[in-house]
This record gives sequence, structure tokens and C-alpha cells, in this order.
Amino acid sequence: MTPFSSSAQPIPDSANNSQIEYINMHPPRQDAVSEVLAGLRTAQKTLSPKYFYDERGSQLFEAITQQPEYYPTRTERKILADHAAEIATSLRTHAGEHITLIEPGCGSCEKVKLLLNDILPSRYVGMDISDQFLLGATENLSQSHPKLDITAVCADFSQLDELANHLPPGHRVVFYPGSTLGNFTPAAAQTFLSSVRTLVGDNGGMLIGVDRHKDSATLDAAYNDKCGVTADFNLNALRHLNRVLPANFDTDLFRHQAHYNADEQRIEMHLRCSQSHTVTCAGQEIHFVEGESIHSENSYKYTRERFTSLAKRAGFAIQQSWQDKDALFAVYYCAAI
Ligand code: AVJ
Repeated sequence: MTPFSSSAQPIPDSANNSQIEYINMHPPRQDAVSEVLAGLRTAQKTLSPKYFYDERGSQLFEAITQQPEYYPTRTERKILADHAAEIATSLRTHAGEHITLIEPGCGSCEKVKLLLNDILPSRYVGMDISDQFLLGATENLSQSHPKLDITAVCADFSQLDELANHLPPGHRVVFYPGSTLGNFTPAAAQTFLSSVRTLVGDNGGMLIGVDRHKDSATLDAAYNDKCGVTADFNLNALRHLNRVLPANFDTDLFRHQAHYNADEQRIEMHLRCSQSHTVTCAGQEIHFVEGESIHSENSYKYTRERFTSLAKRAGFAIQQSWQDKDALFAVYYCAAI
């Protein structure tokens, strides 16, 4: 008898009928140090937006979505909630009755809950790079949707094509909400959508939420909320680097800056430095001159025309779209072509 057997909990009678299947594709570990240093050594210093999201950063992003100026999250949620039945009909018409619904970067799986009771997929596949978060989120989803078959895949975006080999045959639809596409440059967005196209195959589709190009004032306000939450979120990337590299950024010497670059159709976030000084990052000295910036995020906005041609280059055609009454945000259902 092992010392554990007496205290081991019996496997509970399944409280629900759902199955969570777990697939670990062992996403390649990025070398954060060399990646960050390479970005800080270019003429325009850059930092990947993924460094926003430590635990505090994820909380700050949550807080951003509650700010009155930051319209995307609440607008998209309302579009999904208001049109769930129509969206489900569109998927059924174009992708069939038995759908495997796949969500890359599913996070907390909150948005898909707005659709599941209408789409009724045969299986939901949540994919995320953080296995701990993924387990909690899919467990929570199985509690609220006891009849749903769920697959939790620990993988990163570079493994999307490969994921196809692990899924049951049948019609696949990728759900990609949140205008997360906006963080990619147009070239990277095309690469990403092409791998989505490979994953879903010839009979598949994609339901995607995209923030729309609009007047600069609305966009500038959304990324410069009055409470300064976005500023704190941006500066938090430096606190995150201080811990993980480690580094000794003094956040008092940097300030948040965000503006809409209408030529590039993107919000640019920067961390602008107020005086010349040197920062030590993982033992390496990085020099900053007064007024220079670290470019910390792009958030591309798409007109319908630009999104249409991007999707087309990746092998998709828009079948139907939904937007809010002010045309701030769009949700597209695209079919493989
Ligand atoms: C999570 C990438 C969609 O671009 O609006 C919010 C991140 N950055 N405020 C966005 C973000 C600043 C957000 N995305």
C-alpha cells in the first residue's frame, strides 16, 4: 500500500457528461533574453506586446476593457450576443451541422460562451500557450456546458497547421475574436490566416472579430483612457522585464504614448524616455537618449476592403458579417475558398 492510497480521493462520479481531452504539443520555449535584447538593439527599439501579459498585465488588460473609452471588448461581446442565432445559422449553412470549433489563444474561454448554445458544436478545441490557465478555463467551461466535448491543446500559433493531425475529421471552424489579429503586421497576419486556412481545410471556415478603421479621435481616446489604465498596462511591460530578464528599468523615466498612425492604419503604443540614461538588461547595457521610445505594440485596424483582400490572400472569402450600430467593430464569417 502506498502512503497515498488511504488519502486518495475516489474518482468522482462524473458530475457531468463532458470529456476534456488534453493534448500537450509542447510549444517551443522562446528565449526571452535574446529576443528582448535583439529588439532593444535596433534603431527603433521594439518590444513584443506579449510582454504586457504577466499576471498583473492580464488584470490591467481586464481593467482596460472596463474603461468607457475602450469600446472594442464590450462592442464585440454585444455583437456576438445579439447575433448568436444568426451566426450559428451562417456556420451551419456554410460549414455543416457537425462542427469542430477551434479557438487559438482561447484564454478564459469567456467569449465563446456567448455562442455555444446556438452553434452547438460537436467539439470545442481551446488552444493556449499557458497550460495552467488552459486547464482552469476548460474545466470551468465544462461546468457551464456539461454536454460539450472539449479538447484543451497546449500549443502556440506556430503549431496551428500541425494541430490538424490531432483533431477528428469533419468540418472545422476557427473562432478568433478580440481583434487579436491587429497585433500582427499585415504580412504576419496573412501568414497566420494562411495557417488557419490549412488547419480548417477546404470545407472549413473562420469566425473572426476585427476592430474597424475609424476617426483618429475615437481610436486615440481608446488607447489613452482618462484613468491611465492603458498607461499602467504599457509601463507594466517594463516591470515585467525587470523581473524576468532581470533588468533595472526605472518606470519613472518612461511615459505611455499611443496614437493612431492613419497612414499605416494602426495604433502605435510607445514607452517614451524622458532623459538619457543606461539600463542594464540581463547584464547588457542598453543606452537610451532623451525622447527616444520603445515601440511596444501595434494594433492594426481594418476597413472591410482591407480585411477582405487580406482574407482572400489567405484563402478565405467573407460570407456574412455583423457589426454594431456605430460600425466600430466587425465580426466576419469567412469560408475557405
Ligand atoms: C488585445 C491586442 C486586442 O489592441 O486593443 C488594449 C490590446 N493594448 N489597449 C488592442 C490593447 C492597449 C488589445 N488587443
